[in-house]
Amino acid sequence: MTAAPLEALPLDLLRERGSAKWRTYPRDVLPLFVAETDYPLAPAITAALHGAVERGDTGYTPGESGVRSAYAAFAGRRFGWRPDPTRMRSTGDVIMGVVEILRRTISPGDRVVVTPPVYPPFYEAVPEAGGVVERVPLVEGAGDYRLDLDGIERAFAGGARALLLCNPHNPTGTVHTREELAALAEIAARHDAVVVSDEIHAPLTRTDIVFTPFLAASAASAALGYALVSASKAFNLAGLKCALMVAAAPETAAVLRGMPEEIEWRTGYFGAIAAVAAFDPESDPWLDSLLAAIEANAVLLDDLLAEHLPGARYRRPEAGYLAWVDLTAQGWGDNPAKRILTEARVALHYGPAFGDEGRGHVRINLGCSPDVLREAVERIAALR
Ligand SMILES: Cc1ncc(COP(=O)(O)O)c(C=O)c1O
Repeated sequence: MTAAPLEALPLDLLRERGSAKWRTYPRDVLPLFVAETDYPLAPAITAALHGAVERGDTGYTPGESGVRSAYAAFAGRRFGWRPDPTRMRSTGDVIMGVVEILRRTISPGDRVVVTPPVYPPFYEAVPEAGGVVERVPLVEGAGDYRLDLDGIERAFAGGARALLLCNPHNPTGTVHTREELAALAEIAARHDAVVVSDEIHAPLTRTDIVFTPFLAASAASAALGYALVSASKAFNLAGLKCALMVAAAPETAAVLRGMPEEIEWRTGYFGAIAAVAAFDPESDPWLDSLLAAIEANAVLLDDLLAEHLPGARYRRPEAGYLAWVDLTAQGWGDNPAKRILTEARVALHYGPAFGDEGRGHVRINLGCSPDVLREAVERIAALR
């Protein structure tokens, strides 16, 4: 049985929110930029957080918050993979985890491969960990973006020590296949390199697509990889600060275990409470409804672009609620989101922020009501 799409909250209520999505721009701007969603929380999360507030339960996060075992069970149900909770550690957020893992697996000045167009904070996380970004862009095929495995092999052969993978990929919505991930692991193993896989969008994989956790792709991936996971994207919990660093082999688990306690103390207690509720089976129906809503909006965007902006190039994401749209044909320059913001009063993410490959592109957040999405595209189309 397919789930009924989750309904977004009304705009008037959303405008009372104080988060970045609703406070960055004036009221007349429709915000479809930062990756927050407009839905009510999953009921189990609301109940768990209410309970904590009522008890005044706002102290430190305990070492055994339950997040690790809750995630292991969630990954078992949703991805058919059961990671070992004793090989995980929590921290404040995914990017903190990326930085801390890189710090311990590269030496200062080492090159770290990223695969643009890619989530802009990757360009800051690598130098924060002491590394230097080496770009190996995704290869665009027939409307499809794939890893350039040959290019990655050349980068490793030339001395790059690690790859920061986005799996699923933000902004293209690509879900890398098991074969690609296993091939990547083989290449990394040949060159004694590390793969750090950011899997924050994994719970948002479309129901007709199979997500493969990097650590589950092959024996080599399990041996040399690290994953970062979180409930924060799918369940809209970014402000609560909780993510997990995951290893699958004794050596990589030892790297996580060797981190200072302080890194784990950065885990937000409300983030942990909310993540346990998010990963609980009770929240599965809510997540299924969310996926139905995103899927409906992804199809709607296809229809809206065909009707109003026929030159736009877009392919439905395989995972996530972020749509990567090429507006080059409109002739609105390298950064069309600028004109769209000032003239159409719609805030989209700037394409060039994701790398040079993002010129002429915008990223549209589909985690909103169909009416908001429709109005946004109509406002943009009126620019022509
Ligand atoms: C690929 C990717 N990684 C990380 C994040 C941010 O996660 P966190 O707030 O846990 O650092 C995002 C947010 O959109 C993302 O798209």
